[in-house]
Amino acid sequence: MKNISGLLITENNFSKHIIDIKIKNEVVLELIDLFKRFDLTAIEYKPFTRFTIAKYLDDLTKNELGKYLNNILRDRKLGCFIISPEKIIKEIDDIFLVKLSTAVTHLIGTPNHDSMAGKFYARFHVKHEDKSDSYLRKAYTNMDLHTDGTYVKEITDWLMMTKIEEKNVEGGESAMLHLDDWESCNELFNDPIGRENFHWSSPKSKNVNYKVEHPIFFEDENGLPQISYIDQFPEPKNMKQGLFLQKLSDALESSRNKAILKLPVGSSIVANNYFWLHGRKPFKENKKLSRELLRIRGSFFDA
Ligand SMILES: [Fe+2]
Repeated sequence: MKNISGLLITENNFSKHIIDIKIKNEVVLELIDLFKRFDLTAIEYKPFTRFTIAKYLDDLTKNELGKYLNNILRDRKLGCFIISPEKIIKEIDDIFLVKLSTAVTHLIGTPNHDSMAGKFYARFHVKHEDKSDSYLRKAYTNMDLHTDGTYVKEITDWLMMTKIEEKNVEGGESAMLHLDDWESCNELFNDPIGRENFHWSSPKSKNVNYKVEHPIFFEDENGLPQISYIDQFPEPKNMKQGLFLQKLSDALESSRNKAILKLPVGSSIVANNYFWLHGRKPFKENKKLSRELLRIRGSFFDA
């Protein structure tokens, strides 16, 4: 396993494709101090300050972290890491976690504008009650495996999800599936219907007022399968496409090779969005249930 100053790096217990990265406490304390130079408004209004805090983080790892994260995300055998402070100390608050998430993503690429939030990141709660129009905030329903960016024009090479806070939570684990672990990948990847153009749209809350068209499966530069898919938003134009989507959805949800992860508060999971799918298990019912998440999606610098 890679050895980088300031970090503890191990293979994830539930998937050999995921790397766990803990930021040592002394580095976290230095970051807390350095990040104080900028408030959240500066981070949101001035894109260059995001790079400044990313550089603080990289400098504290002898400029090794940025290279390493990029290597992980591009490596077909990996493509995913979980990064978190070694210990959750009282100085770590939601503001620090937004800044840390910003710093990590700005070592990887440029974030997309998140139309739901109107800025480069979105913070949102999952609670007992929900009146929204998608599965994102529905606590008691399984959020099926999907990739992000399926209904937008922006390139979505990677995504980050950070757990900012949670209270009274049981269940709601993250489900992750690497395409190379999926039992039905070859069968569906080789079905010509998956290579046809599908129409994709989205509900009102997403604030995207156009539709896009693209196939579900495509190839990387080595001919390996890549996927862009979410269950809620394709609009099948005929029976053939409808039945294909049902078969795909069933085959994903019945996979026995998903990694089911309980992510601690303060941790961020970052994944390649072309060969990793993500979802969420239902929460156990609790009127006081509350989880706050942050998400950032974007493209690689060289895309
Ligand atoms: Fe997602």
